[in-house]
Amino acid sequence: MQYQQILNTIETEILALKNTGNVASYIPELAKVDANKLGMHLYCNDASHYGFGNEDERFSIQSISKVFSLTLAMSLLDDTLFERVDVEPSGDPFNSLIQLEYENGIPRNPLINAGALVIADTLISTLENPKKDFLDFIHKITNNTTIKSNQKVFDSEKRYSHRNASLLNLMKSFGNIKNDIETVLDLYIFQCAIEMSCSELATAFMIYANAGKTLFNDTQLISPIKIKRINAIMQTCGFYDEAGEFSFRVGLPGKSGVGGGIAAIHPGQYAVTVWSPPLNPKGNSEHGMYALERLTTLTGYSIF
Ligand code: DON
Repeated sequence: MQYQQILNTIETEILALKNTGNVASYIPELAKVDANKLGMHLYCNDASHYGFGNEDERFSIQSISKVFSLTLAMSLLDDTLFERVDVEPSGDPFNSLIQLEYENGIPRNPLINAGALVIADTLISTLENPKKDFLDFIHKITNNTTIKSNQKVFDSEKRYSHRNASLLNLMKSFGNIKNDIETVLDLYIFQCAIEMSCSELATAFMIYANAGKTLFNDTQLISPIKIKRINAIMQTCGFYDEAGEFSFRVGLPGKSGVGGGIAAIHPGQYAVTVWSPPLNPKGNSEHGMYALERLTTLTGYSIF
């Protein structure tokens, strides 16, 4: 496959498009990001790499971190985890409170905010030093110990975290949050404020394209059956109330973040990441979705 040629075509097409989306501003620190940043990186299971643009510049991974926290929790806990968080698409925005009330504090899935907060709660109950252990896990799947959480982004989100605090309070009233609300909120905001580049994220996402093994040192970090399940959750829930649209246009399991990143995988083939900060009204990178749609169209392959 002529991946670099295909990526070059995608870059040319995107540079000719207008940005109609908006950079996330409800976390003030994220509003400072240059809307014209654009990077893409493709990492194949045969270890070849392709990319363009700002592929090596770090950005705030935000909700993409929910895939990593889910993976860490699933590697440590048994299936009773899914008594506290379901695996159904929500069809609602990522930070919606509505379903939680009539579904008794059980979030629809681990990739919406409510579900990721429950996962953070389980990590706090399980890990000795949750923030450090979380970062260690990221270092392990990227083979890169320089990746860290950005304190300014953390502080900025912390000041405006009323909605996530209300999700936590509502779930706590149903008995589905075991730890102190501030402690859970802190871990969640910490993980969202982690910064990675497209190339680092593609390396990390290789475990989802490679049945739970890192490609750089062939270590089995999580079982293939758990990877199958995580990929299924990404496919059905990774884009909130746009999960159907992403499946329809792109046809790969993936996850977005309000920092403008999207990571996706083709099992057995590649991990691919794209970064373009302006978001569409559903909170997903507008040109990121376009780039991935063109990738599966121009290669002729998706999972479907
Ligand atoms: O909790 C929040 O609102 C952010 N830290 C993360 C949201 C996010 O990335 C949604 N994704 N598209």
